[in-house]
Amino acid sequence: MACATAANESFWLFGYGSLIWNPSVPHIDRVPARLHGFSRRFWQGSHDHRGLPHAPGRVVTLIKDAGKVCAGMAFRIPAEAAAEVLDHLDHREKNGYSRQSHGLHAASGLRLNAIVYIAEPGNFAWLGPAPAIEVAQQIAISTGPSGSNREYLERLAKALRDLDADDPHVFELEAIVKRTAIS
Ligand code: BEZ
Repeated sequence: MACATAANESFWLFGYGSLIWNPSVPHIDRVPARLHGFSRRFWQGSHDHRGLPHAPGRVVTLIKDAGKVCAGMAFRIPAEAAAEVLDHLDHREKNGYSRQSHGLHAASGLRLNAIVYIAEPGNFAWLGPAPAIEVAQQIAISTGPSGSNREYLERLAKALRDLDADDPHVFELEAIVKRTAIS
């Protein structure tokens, strides 16, 4: 769903990747939340954070997946920081992501409307699906200005465990990367 949030209003932002463990945005509240009908996948290329233009890493995006649920964290962004946060995220996530608006289920039972940054199939940095072993090997060897791709995966997996969230895709990749030595 396209996003029409005004830059001077407070809003909820859904984090399902590095935002969970590194929000790096001013917020006045945070609540564990779930987005229904989507799954998290390491299908987006990272040429600017966890990889390089000639050797991209892989970071998460969301794919439509009926019946599935993606666990993450919702952050309440205050009105006075709204424009700055949207600018920051538009810049930080410029590598193929766009803003959308989706309903979330907060852990408290509350329904929230939130901004979600999603990289859609076919964007210029899209890598798409590949066998888990290939995705894991790419993550194991990639690094970029924000650090290693391995660290991104490990911190995401830990954050999901802290949320008591199951994510077989992430945990499978973590297990493969753990036994993969960098050559
Ligand atoms: C996140 O960390 O939730 C996030 C993922 C992709 C783009 C923007 C934010």
